[in-house]
Amino acid sequence: MSLRPETLRGVTITGTGMYVPDQIVTNHDLAKIVETTDEWIVERTGIRARRKAAPEQASSDLALIACQRALEMAKVDPKDVDQIILATTTPDRILPSCGCTLQRKLGATKAAAYDVFAACTGFVYGMGMARGLIGGGMADTVLVVGVETLSRIVDYTDRNTCVLFGDGAGAAVFQACEPGTGIHAVDMHSDGELGEVLEVPAGISRNPANEHTVAAREHFIRMQGKKLFPFAVRSMEDATRKCVERAGWSTDDVQVFIPHQANLRIIEGVRERLGLPEDRVYVNIDRYGNTSSASIPIALDELVRSGKIKPGDHVAFAAFGGGATWGASTMTWTAPVPSYAPVEAAAATGGAA
Ligand code: ACO
Repeated sequence: MSLRPETLRGVTITGTGMYVPDQIVTNHDLAKIVETTDEWIVERTGIRARRKAAPEQASSDLALIACQRALEMAKVDPKDVDQIILATTTPDRILPSCGCTLQRKLGATKAAAYDVFAACTGFVYGMGMARGLIGGGMADTVLVVGVETLSRIVDYTDRNTCVLFGDGAGAAVFQACEPGTGIHAVDMHSDGELGEVLEVPAGISRNPANEHTVAAREHFIRMQGKKLFPFAVRSMEDATRKCVERAGWSTDDVQVFIPHQANLRIIEGVRERLGLPEDRVYVNIDRYGNTSSASIPIALDELVRSGKIKPGDHVAFAAFGGGATWGASTMTWTAPVPSYAPVEAAAATGGAA
């Protein structure tokens, strides 16, 4: 049963791409700079390594490679992209937006480009926006990229956070498809009351940068991990259940579950609550850590390129993050060959599922 108005035409993903920087930072490397151990990090988080951007690499550089790979898979020329939605917490700069910088580098001259700040839920928010834009006929091709250089805002004197985060980018090309396939539902939520649980205290209008904010290390991530943990499990379960119901499925029908990779114990908690077997849940946190908005599209691209997602598969996505934000999505996988439904034709048949 549908709880929301349906879109005019189906929306699907026709290409995916990812990029992670070359430098691998292991738990043993971190144990040399903060009081921690490989055993603690693996047992409490499931993370064994994460990637770190080279000094000359900014978020737009990582995003560029992921986007080029996604566009190549979709066989889309950058000049045909209508919108670029760049999800991040670590843009190159506040002005211009990272989306506009990426647009220039890609040569996507026709595209409207902008940033979405929804922390780790950014890619799921981007999916919702792409679905609305294409489904409603405002755009034909939307490029959504989640990208982070979290190593630039991680405090390498704080063992509570520096072991968790990694750098990377993942992208997906969204286009129209036959109604009834592709994306079935996207669920997006926020709760600003939880804002201080995960924050970067200084740097912009509330607390502009000065020598005191720098001395107090207020430009780095601060997190109350214990408070986030139960919220993460509950919120991802709830959002996934809503999207599964709106797709007309039961949780048994989910063949591939792609959760945000924040902590292996959180992923396990969600998996158990949803009653999913282990082999249906994708995990790569051991290799990349928490790459925030990039974690879901990186996982998706790995699944697509290794042939672990096939046309017809029922796929569910779920994420939570700072803000607080959370959300989920369900789709029937259609890539790599989409069938286009012009707006008029889809409207004539009564719209998408
Ligand atoms: N190495 C060794 N000990 C550590 C480390 C470390 N790296 N980090 C913390 N500890 C210590 C703590 O100081 C604490 O010691 P104390 O009892 O003497 O004070 C002890 O280990 C236990 O700490 P807890 O916070 O209870 O550990 P917990 O089991 O909760 O795990 C963690 C901590 C991994 C942060 C967990 O709470 C978690 O994953 N929370 C969710 C975090 C998350 O998902 N954040 C989302 C970010 S997404 C975004 O939007 C960017």
